[in-house]
Amino acid sequence: MKISVIGAGYVGLVTASCLAELGHSIDLIEIDQEKAEMILAGISPINEPGLDDLLSKHISHNLRVITNYNEVHKSKLSFVCVGTPQMIDGNTDLSMIKAVSKSLGTALSMHDQDHVVIVKSTVPPGTTEGLISSIILGYTGDTENKIKFAMNPEFLREGQAITDFMNPDRIIIGCTEQYVGDTVASVYSGLNAPVMRTAPTVAEMIKYASNALLAMKISFSNEIGNICKRLDIDVYDVMRGVGMDHRISPHFLNAGVGFGGSCFPKDIMSLIKVAESLGENPVLLKSVIKVNEQQPLRMVEMLEKRAGPLAGKVVAVLGLAFKNDTDDVRDSRALPVIKELLRRGALVRAYDPLAIPNMSKIIPDIEYCESTAEALKDADVCLIMTEWPEFGELDCEFDLMRGKIIIEGRKILKCGRAEGICW
Ligand code: UDX
Repeated sequence: MKISVIGAGYVGLVTASCLAELGHSIDLIEIDQEKAEMILAGISPINEPGLDDLLSKHISHNLRVITNYNEVHKSKLSFVCVGTPQMIDGNTDLSMIKAVSKSLGTALSMHDQDHVVIVKSTVPPGTTEGLISSIILGYTGDTENKIKFAMNPEFLREGQAITDFMNPDRIIIGCTEQYVGDTVASVYSGLNAPVMRTAPTVAEMIKYASNALLAMKISFSNEIGNICKRLDIDVYDVMRGVGMDHRISPHFLNAGVGFGGSCFPKDIMSLIKVAESLGENPVLLKSVIKVNEQQPLRMVEMLEKRAGPLAGKVVAVLGLAFKNDTDDVRDSRALPVIKELLRRGALVRAYDPLAIPNMSKIIPDIEYCESTAEALKDADVCLIMTEWPEFGELDCEFDLMRGKIIIEGRKILKCGRAEGICW
């Protein structure tokens, strides 16, 4: 099928490459010329295992990268994959969604083709049928009812996005007409996954509710962990037992310094704002965020309790990415920790296998090291912030430190020389 994918961010790039792998003919529309050229040269602007291989396999064959909407009407479908970041007040920034709708509407108004616009971006309930369709139909007029809309959320984890795309737990298709749903479902006919058909607003809400529930599992584990620590009980043993109940499942119960990344913090905040705009006070969702904001500060407080005032102390921070296998530092728990360390006058030395270039754009004035050994040498204390497997093997490297205090925000060290934030 000929398909346009709009936006070459995490979701768009992975979607375009995987749809090409499934045998479709893809036009990836990216208005940033520099980014488009990079992808055309086979260089992925993001670090995602397996993506480079898919790009080099399909670019110039069945995956084109283009910087305008001139030929979008030749595609049967277009997937909207642009970002919906969080604004300072917590509301969702829909400016990129609006800009794409305008461009799509303008391009489609010049032709007379059937077309399905499929929203993959995470958007507040009502956006597909309200904002997006009204902007596009405002341009096209669409008296013959040729343009249809669907909502098809993504559930891709960074670092595993290609595997997640190819092996989904479920495919959610929100649309109002049976044959539109059939067309969207046929895109995925090469995958072995249950398909749920529903209304667009339900599909939009499924994405928010899924992320909120997963984030809640993490904040719940963290809160139980904070209590367990006081009672000298290992929260990992507790959660292993809890997770054996099939109604709960063993996944996403790892206590630690909290969740980061491009989805959980912003999506839960967006859902809170949606609720508040309706006159609701979603206390449970607010608590999920509150626990997540407190955990990093607890870590610094614990460090000060063990090591004394942090002013002038050299703190080795291992891990900057919001999780392992990514260079993404968006909402990483290392951010509030480093800011608090600096506020307390500590000297921060940081190492991460991938995320130093991204972190140094946000916090330029700390010392970045090329190895764990360099970060640990003569450090007074050490904080472990990301679950990189290579940190799990550290042991004698800690002998390079001046002091002995090591605190883990992720349970990863095998040598048993660290104290856990809540275990
Ligand atoms: C998440 C969702 O999993 C995905 O379905 C959605 O589409 C986008 O958001 P992602 O942000 O890539 O994916 O990462 P994920 O693996 O879910 O981890 C998010 C954060 O939670 C990380 O900071 C991770 O360290 C933390 N986490 C995860 C925990 O603290 N404990 C856990 O048990 C699991």
